[in-house]
Amino acid sequence: MALVVVTLAAGKGSRMNSELPKVLHTLAGQPMLSHVLQSAGQLPNARQVVVVGHGAEVVQQTFADAEVDFVIQHEQKGTGHAVAQAMPLVDTADTVLILYGDVPLIKTATLAALLEASQSGLALLTVDLADPNGYGRIVRDANGVIQEIVEHKDASAEQRQINEVNTGILAVAASHLQQWLPQLSANNAQGEYYLTDVIAMSVADGIPVNSINATDEFEVQGVNDRIQLAQLERHFQAEQAHRLLAAGVSLADPSRIDIRGQVTVGRDVSIDVNCVFEGDVELADGVTIGPNCVIRQSKIGANSHVESFSHIDQTYIDANCMIGPYARLRPGAELAENAKVGNFCEVKKSQIGAGAKVNHLSYIGDASVGKNANIGAGTITCNYDGVNKFKTNIGNDAFIGSNTALVAPVTIGDTATVAAGSVITKAVEAQDLAFGRSKQRNISGWQRPTKNND
Ligand code: UD1
Ligand code: MG
Repeated sequence: MALVVVTLAAGKGSRMNSELPKVLHTLAGQPMLSHVLQSAGQLPNARQVVVVGHGAEVVQQTFADAEVDFVIQHEQKGTGHAVAQAMPLVDTADTVLILYGDVPLIKTATLAALLEASQSGLALLTVDLADPNGYGRIVRDANGVIQEIVEHKDASAEQRQINEVNTGILAVAASHLQQWLPQLSANNAQGEYYLTDVIAMSVADGIPVNSINATDEFEVQGVNDRIQLAQLERHFQAEQAHRLLAAGVSLADPSRIDIRGQVTVGRDVSIDVNCVFEGDVELADGVTIGPNCVIRQSKIGANSHVESFSHIDQTYIDANCMIGPYARLRPGAELAENAKVGNFCEVKKSQIGAGAKVNHLSYIGDASVGKNANIGAGTITCNYDGVNKFKTNIGNDAFIGSNTALVAPVTIGDTATVAAGSVITKAVEAQDLAFGRSKQRNISGWQRPTKNND
């Protein structure tokens, strides 16, 4: 028996006031729909089907590489109608789990519990809300047995007093859905085919309706507008911050960190305020990150320190390095241990050797910098002729004087020295000193011009 997860994502999302289909709006840097697909994807043997309608093409393109099948609901005639569109992809022996592309924080553990409860009937995820306005109400009999769901617009004044509401998420044997969905009618306040009407059909057929009560409101909260999306974002970020704290990370302020991906941490990592982490980021033991840093898809080795306002993207940093403040490390930057990249330096696709220093106002691109080399302030690798990129090789213990332009392709040998202000266009052999600047000329007794008064 297989599991088919059907995620409804055909709605328009008018209240987002957006060109973008609602389920593509992002939470923690990922489309809402991808959070749902990831949570469900962790269930064993799950096949996933997504029902799309509004913006179907864009949604399908965005998830072209995902292991999901799409079905199109051309007209949005209600949640029951939406599920019916997926049924041709479902076998009678399957169990169907119904999720929503705009309910992004649903957790795998909750879904697993729901599936467990679906083994002896229909399993419904409900939640108690202080303000149940707008939601379908769970109607129980005197013994607490679920009888039906009544949508808010169809509910009596008395039913509207009920605080237990339908989250919309349910699991049930496909064989039952195959029976019930064709019997739905749109004879209700909204003229829609309500999925919720299958609850009363289940009761009528003697199939038990089991329920699980979601204790975390955020987990089952749907997003209708950007206010709700922002609230879920902060909730999600707070949860991640607490996970880091629990793992032994110091956060200067747990409410001022954003993780849009996975952060893996060693012991005694410390993160100051307003840092953003994207993709997979690894921070080894004793790493400290100063305020206002952006770190994407990078590894930072033990006891390395990143000072404030640094931007680090697809970079590998070994142990005991010093970065920033105001450093920019771009894709393919690799720093060996004890390297330093200081303020207003940009490094791209380059290896910085162990103990090497690039401390002030430099651009190092397509270069390799040897061990313990010292790159003076304002050194630029001229790696681009407007068409092609070229490499600069700088040897171990080389000393590059300030304000030097290294015109690639060019090689500076081990222990070579380049005088400040040089434009280097030819190789410098090991140990040599290169002057690539015009000779200084002094004019003695020079009279400055005087102001002309006519
Ligand atoms: C639905 C439930 C209600 C529940 C609430 C929880 C029904 C009839 N009602 O109401 O009991 O309390 O969710 O939020 O199921 N969708 C489609 N195709 C359609 C209609 C909807 O894909 O034809 C998708 C929407 O994109 C949305 C979801 O289904 O993601 C729910 O639809 P919505 O119209 O918001 O249902 P509610 O009225 O909120
Ligand atoms: Mg809704």
